[in-house]
Amino acid sequence: MKKTVLVSGGAGFIGSHVTVELVQAGYDVVIADNMSNCDDTNYRGVCSILGRELPFIKMDFCDGDAVNELFAKYRIDAVIHFAAFKAVGESVDEPLKYYRNNLLSFLNVLEAARSQGGCNVLFSSSATVYGEPEELPVTEKSPRQPATSPYGDTKQMCEDFLRDCVRAYPGVKGIALRYFNPIGAHPSALIGELPRGVPNNLVPFITQTAIGRRECLSIFGNDYPTEDGTCKRDYIDIVDLAKAHVCAVTRMVEGRMKEDYEIFNVGTGRPVSVLELVNAFEKVNGLKLNYKIAPRRPGDVVAIWADPSLANEELGWKAERSVEETLAAAWAWEKHLAGK
Ligand code: UD1
Repeated sequence: MKKTVLVSGGAGFIGSHVTVELVQAGYDVVIADNMSNCDDTNYRGVCSILGRELPFIKMDFCDGDAVNELFAKYRIDAVIHFAAFKAVGESVDEPLKYYRNNLLSFLNVLEAARSQGGCNVLFSSSATVYGEPEELPVTEKSPRQPATSPYGDTKQMCEDFLRDCVRAYPGVKGIALRYFNPIGAHPSALIGELPRGVPNNLVPFITQTAIGRRECLSIFGNDYPTEDGTCKRDYIDIVDLAKAHVCAVTRMVEGRMKEDYEIFNVGTGRPVSVLELVNAFEKVNGLKLNYKIAPRRPGDVVAIWADPSLANEELGWKAERSVEETLAAAWAWEKHLAGK
């Protein structure tokens, strides 16, 4: 009997890649999305990769009745909750928007999980919960630091909601995956990142500069205490990241969790500086990028990368793609979008 996974935010960047991997691993997937931050490009891409339509429900997870109806209609074995706002800067300007959307939508998921007598809940968390880490690489035992934005606060709070609900409500089990920096696109170039307006994140800004949509990439700071002075991150390929979700869901539905609430870092363990990433992009794609050094961006941490050994051992998952392969995929996607 096939298991059914509900993917909230399934039309987005991460949700669409996870949907593809889940279906290819033999799961039935129900996609739900309010399309507030995307169009149907990725949904259509998912259907063409898989060669069939998937159940798609346009709905807002802040509507508790709608979430309960969804759970009543489909026999949901696991829910993966991606539906959330994610722009760090905007969350500082509009905290209420972030608190209302990101917290309420997850509370509704947990409420539905509880009222149907339990469910496996996978929460999409972030390395942002570690703040500026004292020790590198960070393990799941590294302390969470006070969040530097309301966006980061919502990630911490939702982790706590999940932990507490698992403790209180029988049958509710949870995994939080803490992503480092997801980048890239599906090798088919049919799904990928679709930022609205000016991208906040590095790789979409790089690809849009390379294609000519942006004039020049600003590298935010080259006076950090790192080898080349630019910040270091753990860039994780989006397909590798998606596969970690399949491993986590399978661990839950097969009853192989060691504790009812578990946390895993999803990263490569490989720090890459901004300049190294730009150089790798230029080299693998055979082009020159227009960039300049600009002032530091407020709120950026100097360096953060994962110790992914817990996920390697417990989930049987490992990041496989090189940063070059991933940057080639990101560029293929940008060209696909531009019709080139
Ligand atoms: C941010 C969020 C993270 C979220 C991720 C989504 C924080 C502190 N960070 O990570 O939670 O999961 O986005 O992908 O909450 N950079 C430039 N020029 C640019 C853009 C970025 O130099 O135009 C640099 C930044 O200074 C940083 C690196 O590139 O050093 C990565 O930035 P970005 O892609 O925005 O990700 P994070 O800030 O690491």
